[in-house]
Amino acid sequence: MIPYKHEPFSDFSLDENKNALSKGFETVKKDFGSEYPLIINGERILTDKKLESYNPAKKSEIIGDMSQAGEKEALQAMDAAKETFKEWRKSSFEFRSDVLFKAAAIVRKRKFEFTALLVKEAGKPWKEADADTAEAIDFLEYYARQNLELKDGRKVESRPGEYNRFNYIPLGVGLVISPWNFAFAIMAGTTAAALVTGNTVLLKPSSKASVIAYKFMEVLEEAGMPNGVVNFIPGSSREIGDLLVEHKDTAFVSFTGSRDVGVNIYEKAAIVQDGQVNLKRVIAEMGGKDTIVVDSSADLELAAGAIVKSAFAFSGQKCSACSRVIALDDIHDELLEKVVEKTKELTIGDPEADIYMGPVIDDASVKKIEKYIEIGKEEGKLEVGGTIDNETGHFVNPTVFSGLKHDDRLMQEEIFGPVVGFAKASNFTEAIEFANDTDYGLTGAVITKNREHIEEARRDFMVGNLYFNRDCTGAIVGYHPFGGFKMSGTDSKAGGPDYLQLHMQGKTTSEML
Ligand code: NAD
Ligand code: ALA
Repeated sequence: MIPYKHEPFSDFSLDENKNALSKGFETVKKDFGSEYPLIINGERILTDKKLESYNPAKKSEIIGDMSQAGEKEALQAMDAAKETFKEWRKSSFEFRSDVLFKAAAIVRKRKFEFTALLVKEAGKPWKEADADTAEAIDFLEYYARQNLELKDGRKVESRPGEYNRFNYIPLGVGLVISPWNFAFAIMAGTTAAALVTGNTVLLKPSSKASVIAYKFMEVLEEAGMPNGVVNFIPGSSREIGDLLVEHKDTAFVSFTGSRDVGVNIYEKAAIVQDGQVNLKRVIAEMGGKDTIVVDSSADLELAAGAIVKSAFAFSGQKCSACSRVIALDDIHDELLEKVVEKTKELTIGDPEADIYMGPVIDDASVKKIEKYIEIGKEEGKLEVGGTIDNETGHFVNPTVFSGLKHDDRLMQEEIFGPVVGFAKASNFTEAIEFANDTDYGLTGAVITKNREHIEEARRDFMVGNLYFNRDCTGAIVGYHPFGGFKMSGTDSKAGGPDYLQLHMQGKTTSEML
């Protein structure tokens, strides 16, 4: 088998790739405004209740009209998943991995079509959408290989006269709840991990970007996934969220999203229901308040580039985005000046054109960011940005605040938009203390040429993904296992060698010879 290597990113300076993306736009536009059904046990079900998924850069452009599962359909999907599990649990590791290999090959062939859909449905700039598609392919390829490695379980010892084995078996029905911001990669990755390990799945994607999830379902079907293995049930969280999290037959919940929702799911899943026979497992990967620390030895050009990229690529709408900078006193002003300069150069607009920054996802997001811009003006000094255009699409200009204290609200609460704050520290140890002083612990970066500082941060900076002399976003499947500490989550490390086992239980068998 070809060893795993991550999917290369597309170089959009090449006409060949620009043209392929244009064709991708043509293809996806043909389907705009279509109605999409639920998929339960392979059956397409159009419901009366539908929700429009629209282009956040052009609110009038409807990507699709998505059927919404209510209580009846959610329970129907649970029945289908339970029934299918009886056979799927017996399927071979090879069969299940082959479904993912084939799915990866299908997505690779239609790469620019998926990228175009992400531009339109999630408002991603070309590069960001391309990276999202590449990451989806990576998850499929990587988990398919990881699953094969678990095929024979793990080696255990046997005493004379006995034959011991330790194998992994699936858990049952998993509820996969995914966010809109990596509408393809995280949705596909969390679904793929659950199914390749022999579980059946209820997939509840985010309503803000559900058409891409439907298209992925079609890929899985084309790749040979049997009916009922993944049941596609977009729907109102209020109507079906708690119902499925609390359902006695849900074996595990794989959630990626905000802290409040994740904590709520974690609590609800812990309550044992009448008739429940398994303790539910919860994977909850949640928000971030990610810090870049810059010390006196740093290359400030590199630091400013890393901050701008981490804070503003995809409009700061990544759990990994940098929203706090802690700079040592003596380099603070020069660094801030460079960041402000670079921020002013960014291009913003409809990402169907090749721009740096597109819209934020919806009105609620605009309102939230607007609120934090006001808070920032009270707590610190607005250096650049702070303006919003919510007419045709949801556009927020990249915004930098200075003069903050590390424990100000702007430096503590997840904004999930293009806003970054600067605070000072008097020495490196204090900078790391300030960086750690949030509830979150997802990503962080340190920009330094000082080896002692690298080792101090490696030991003391409490984040799941710590980067040196680069940006703090863009973890690559199989290279940078991803997941957060503290209130950022259960540190499941998606795209890492321990991830699949979270969806399985170990079974010891001991035979007397
Ligand atoms: P969200 O929490 O609003 O929604 C996530 C998913 O949960 C959606 O599918 C939503 O429909 C569903 N949901 C909402 N309420 C629910 C309920 N009561 N029961 C069941 N499901 C429910 O998050 P979002 O806005 O989609 O995504 C942005 C958030 O996700 C940010 O906080 C970001 O930091 C986080 N995120 C974290 C990671 C990570 O790996 N740590 C990755 C991406 C995004
Ligand atoms: N995995 C994504 C990143 O690292 C969220 O930016």
